[in-house]
Amino acid sequence: MALNTLVLVVAMTVALGASAIAPQAAAPQREPDVIFVPTPPDVVDAMLKLAKVTSSDLVYDLGSGDGRIPIAAAKTYGARGVGIDIDPERIREATGNARSNGVADKVTFRTDDLFTTDISPATVVTLYLLPSLNLKLADKLMKDLKPGTRIVSHAFDMGDWKPQQTQTVSGRSIYLWTIPQPSQRR
Ligand SMILES: C[S@@+](CC[C@H](N)C(=O)[O-])C[C@H]1O[C@@H](n2cnc3c(N)ncnc32)[C@H](O)[C@@H]1O
Repeated sequence: MALNTLVLVVAMTVALGASAIAPQAAAPQREPDVIFVPTPPDVVDAMLKLAKVTSSDLVYDLGSGDGRIPIAAAKTYGARGVGIDIDPERIREATGNARSNGVADKVTFRTDDLFTTDISPATVVTLYLLPSLNLKLADKLMKDLKPGTRIVSHAFDMGDWKPQQTQTVSGRSIYLWTIPQPSQRR
């Protein structure tokens, strides 16, 4: 693991421990697996470009934070979007952001656990989680998503499941995979 990635993982994990003991206005159904750290706008743009998002796509952001990825997909490409976050406070914030950006008709947000929620309608999935969470999620992505669905992850890869493309944007790595036909699966 590169040093800057390691620093990021440690920072996100340590902050998660601190957030578990801080008082919270609206408590999630269970503790988030990773804290909210937003993807910078230029990296969001690059992720959507790497996935070749169009107006035909339905973009799911798993752990959607303030909603910036599905909102950008709707504003820039006319795509539809769904954001899933376990923290109801984030969902409230993202829903407000969709309204203030004029895309509330295209983007919805729901409070749910990304490991159990239905992701099967997605044509593009975006991730900014942690290495361990990507590894835990890989089987669900492969099982639940349709062939041809693109997955883009900010900062973290999926171990043995090698990406078909990797880019560096403002010092951040982004990775692309496409769900293969059943006959070509691992
Ligand atoms: C690093 S932030 C990424 C936010 C956004 N995707 C972005 O790139 O700007 C991770 C988000 O995942 C959410 N999260 C953590 N564990 C989750 C889980 N099990 N199910 C759904 N959301 C989760 C957190 O509340 C947080 O908002």
